Amino acid sequence: MNKIEKLIQKLPKAELHLHIEGSFEPELMFAIAKRNNINLPHDSVESLQATYEFNNLQEFLDIYYQGVNVLQTQQDYYDLTWAYLLKAQADNVVHTEIMFDPQSHTERGISIDTVINGIHQALVDAQTQLGISSFLIFSLLRHLSEQECLETLEQAVPHLDKIKAIGLDSSEMGHPPEKFTKLYKRAEELGLLKIAHAGEEGPPEYVWSAIDVLGIDRIDHGNRCLEDDNLVEYIKQKSLTLTVCPLSNLKLRVVDDLTHHPIKIMLDKGLNAMINSDDPAYFGGYVNDNFFAVADALDFSEEDIVQLVKNSFTGSFLSKDKIKEHIAQVDKLL
Ligand code: ADE
Ligand code: ZN
Repeated sequence: MNKIEKLIQKLPKAELHLHIEGSFEPELMFAIAKRNNINLPHDSVESLQATYEFNNLQEFLDIYYQGVNVLQTQQDYYDLTWAYLLKAQADNVVHTEIMFDPQSHTERGISIDTVINGIHQALVDAQTQLGISSFLIFSLLRHLSEQECLETLEQAVPHLDKIKAIGLDSSEMGHPPEKFTKLYKRAEELGLLKIAHAGEEGPPEYVWSAIDVLGIDRIDHGNRCLEDDNLVEYIKQKSLTLTVCPLSNLKLRVVDDLTHHPIKIMLDKGLNAMINSDDPAYFGGYVNDNFFAVADALDFSEEDIVQLVKNSFTGSFLSKDKIKEHIAQVDKLL
């Protein structure tokens, strides 16, 4: 490990953009498929992994939704979440805000209680056994209708004590934020915070409307905001954090090469950007692998790493006091 990598490993950090279904490693997928008597369309981990080559977001999503199909019992959701939490602990993640896609489960007849209770129990155990705090984010699929999303959101009502925010993911192009105006109003009535994927593949206009129409508290990805200087200023004025996912951007061809990744430009412009793994089982690594990859490609300084790590706490939905405590802990280690 070089000096920068050692610093990355040493510093406690938060992860704010992680789809729990995207942390489903092939080995665990085969094990769960076997105990649920489900035949996967691949006969080995290697042949499944050979399909993990994507030209765009949609090609990835088609494979990601297939993988989800083997999840059935509360134990399956617990095991999926616990496996991610162990990886997070190894990377010195001390706080995580994870998304799940309820519709990818409920549309197969799995009850929302099974999904939420399984994930939630692992998160509770992570606090006591691994020292990792967390929030859960209820993420709706934007390729579905707003009405379907509203109906799914109502199913969250008995579980509001376990859910911090609403999110919006899946196919971005052709599904602009304003399609979900009523959904986000309803989420606000329910007391949820609000985030949305915006500007991953979609244009700067989608980032504008995620902010102005949906009233989001944080932006997932946001890469394409850099095409609009006024938007960059607006995001800074509103102190909105961008949850950036470098290896995801590379695998989904949002960038052609990590040496062209915009994270350094974002920092230099004073944007509150931070680093995440998105769907680590599919994109080649967990949060520290993402740090290592961009630190190498963009020749990051120690100051860049410290800034990114501090941004990860500033952008979290933790209380101001907790954020201060985490940042003080980072400073103590420098
Ligand atoms: N669902 C899982 N990962 C996603 C991503 N990177 N963009 C949109 N939807 C997703
Ligand atoms: Zn994502």
